[in-house]
Amino acid sequence: MVISKKLEKALNEQINAEMWSSNLYMAMSFYCDKEGFSGFGGWLKKQAAEELEHAYAMAGFLIQRGGTAKVGKIAEVPASWKNPLDMFKKVYEHECHVSELINKLLDMAVADKDKASEDFFWQFVREQVEEEATASEIVSKIEKFGQTALFQLDSRLGQRK
Ligand code: FEO
Repeated sequence: MVISKKLEKALNEQINAEMWSSNLYMAMSFYCDKEGFSGFGGWLKKQAAEELEHAYAMAGFLIQRGGTAKVGKIAEVPASWKNPLDMFKKVYEHECHVSELINKLLDMAVADKDKASEDFFWQFVREQVEEEATASEIVSKIEKFGQTALFQLDSRLGQRK
């Protein structure tokens, strides 16, 4: 069953959103590197790479389903934040926004009675639980423990494989 034109368009918009996310995390990594948080910088570069993997997976699925994957224009991302706490709050907010986008895609697949797309989107629903929880944990640690948490988190997140 070929994917519907409506879902094809929505998936291409999501591919664009994933690339924007990748650029956002790259910009955040540059900000952290400049501010002396090289551990955060390294973690964010891996996060940026993971967002591109999401875009590739969506493009691959779209092509398998007879659609055409497109690389559209990517809007500019912010370049600076007040401090690492402010930045990680934005990471959390952004991941919540992405979760809403994924949920809408799943709703569209259900409306289309497109089981293959439903199955495909469920993996991203599960992924978003992890993405939101990770960002939320970082924010609450910094809020509770301030500078000490910043120092320890920068060291811990820098070890991400
Ligand atoms: Fe592609 Fe962070 O969700």
